[in-house]
Amino acid sequence: MRKKIVAGNWKMNKDLQEANILASEVVNMVKDEVMTDTVVVMCTPYVYLNKALKLTDGSKVQIGAQNCSEHASGAYTGEISAPMLKSIDVPYVIIGHSERREYFSETNEQLAAKVNIALENELIPIFCCGESLETRESGNHFDFVCNQLTESLFHLSAEELEKVVIAYEPIWAIGTGKTASAEQAQEMHEKLRAHLASKYGDLAEEISILYGGSVKPGNAEEIFAGKDVDGGLIGGASLESRGFVDIVKSI
Ligand code: 13P
Repeated sequence: MRKKIVAGNWKMNKDLQEANILASEVVNMVKDEVMTDTVVVMCTPYVYLNKALKLTDGSKVQIGAQNCSEHASGAYTGEISAPMLKSIDVPYVIIGHSERREYFSETNEQLAAKVNIALENELIPIFCCGESLETRESGNHFDFVCNQLTESLFHLSAEELEKVVIAYEPIWAIGTGKTASAEQAQEMHEKLRAHLASKYGDLAEEISILYGGSVKPGNAEEIFAGKDVDGGLIGGASLESRGFVDIVKSI
């Protein structure tokens, strides 16, 4: 049985005080209200990781970083390495978010290196993929997203791939309030799983594929109902504890 996962991506939001309040509220609500074995992750800005790890210690809530360098160490001013994240016991790291691909020109090849170094450091990569509106309108979206997986993940052994979580996030649905329909999400997830199966066989059934893009308490249940949709990567709606935990509960 593959894991159900709901991960919040805080992006570049919240000051320390706000971050403490949000994390504490999520921990308490999850403790009182979430009885299932759904994995709940909060991907906070780097500067709050240590504090967030302390606040969530012993709780069901896990912590993730939003990125890591493809290098292990060295003269890369401003970067954070996978060994650093490992050294503070962060379990998850988002890799290849479309905002990193777009604003920081991250390429599929570079993301393959980031996936490698994350796995070498026992971090669980939440690998993001997804197409632009232009690509969807051209009708090439399935090939485009499958190719993102081919170029960044298909060098992995089965033992390595097994540790990866995939998040499909159509760029046109991120922060726009315009979510993919439940059918569009399920259709892409099914294609991605079939693509994984073409190389890894039955292992594809064990890989969690999350949907991200304007998931809200009001639409989460419908989106999560897709048989290949194993949870969500939540941006805006993860910044408010009540809404985020309601999304977790709708799985
Ligand atoms: P929104 O939920 O704000 O659309 O963001 C999705 C996302 O980018 C999560 O990584």
